[in-house]
Amino acid sequence: MRLYLPDPAATAELASRLHAVLPADTAGWTLLLEGELGAGKSTIARALIAAMGHSGKVPSPTYTLVEPYELPRGMVYHIDLYRVTSEQELRYLGWNELEDGFRLVEWPDRAPALAASADLLIRLEYAPSGRNAEITGLSTRGAELVAQMSATTMT
Ligand SMILES: Nc1ncnc2c1ncn2[C@@H]1O[C@H](COP(=O)(O)OP(=O)(O)O)[C@@H](O)[C@H]1O
Ligand SMILES: [Mg+2]
Repeated sequence: MRLYLPDPAATAELASRLHAVLPADTAGWTLLLEGELGAGKSTIARALIAAMGHSGKVPSPTYTLVEPYELPRGMVYHIDLYRVTSEQELRYLGWNELEDGFRLVEWPDRAPALAASADLLIRLEYAPSGRNAEITGLSTRGAELVAQMSATTMT
C-alpha cells in the first residue's frame, strides 16, 4: 500500500491508522521502519507508542539501542540500529529476549536477517514536498493487516 504524506501530521496519522488495525496482543510482532535520516521513522514510532497508551516523551534509542515501554496492552520496544555495524552486535541487544513485546525497528537494514522474521515494513522516502510511504506485509498476518488498512479510507 502506498500513501503520500504531505506533512508530519499525515505521518502520525499513518501510525494511528496502523494502530487501529493492530491485534489486541502485539507480543511477537515486528515492524520495520526504513528510510534515510529525517524520513519520518521516529515520527511514526512516537505516534504509535503514544496511540498504544504512553504519555510523555519518546526519547531516541540511538545510543541505548532499545527503549522499552510497559503499556496497557503489553511491552513495546523501540529499537534503533543506526549505530549497529554487524549483525553480531544484536546479541548485545538481546533481540530474542524482546519477543514478549512489539518491536519497532528503525534502521533494520543494519541487520538484514531481521526482515526474515518481521511482520510489517514501512518505507519512507522524501517527496519534493512531504514524504511517500509504502507499507508492506512481510508475514501472512502482516499482509492481512495491510489489506485491512487499505480497506479503510483515510480521513
Ligand atoms: N510527511 C512529512 N512531511 C514533511 N516533514 C515530515 C513528514 N513526516 C515527518 N516529517 C518531519 O521530518 C523530520 C524528521 O523526522 P524523524 O521522524 O525524526 O525522521 P527519522 O527518524 O526517519 O530520522 C521531523 O521534523 C518531522 O516532523
Ligand atoms: Mg529516527
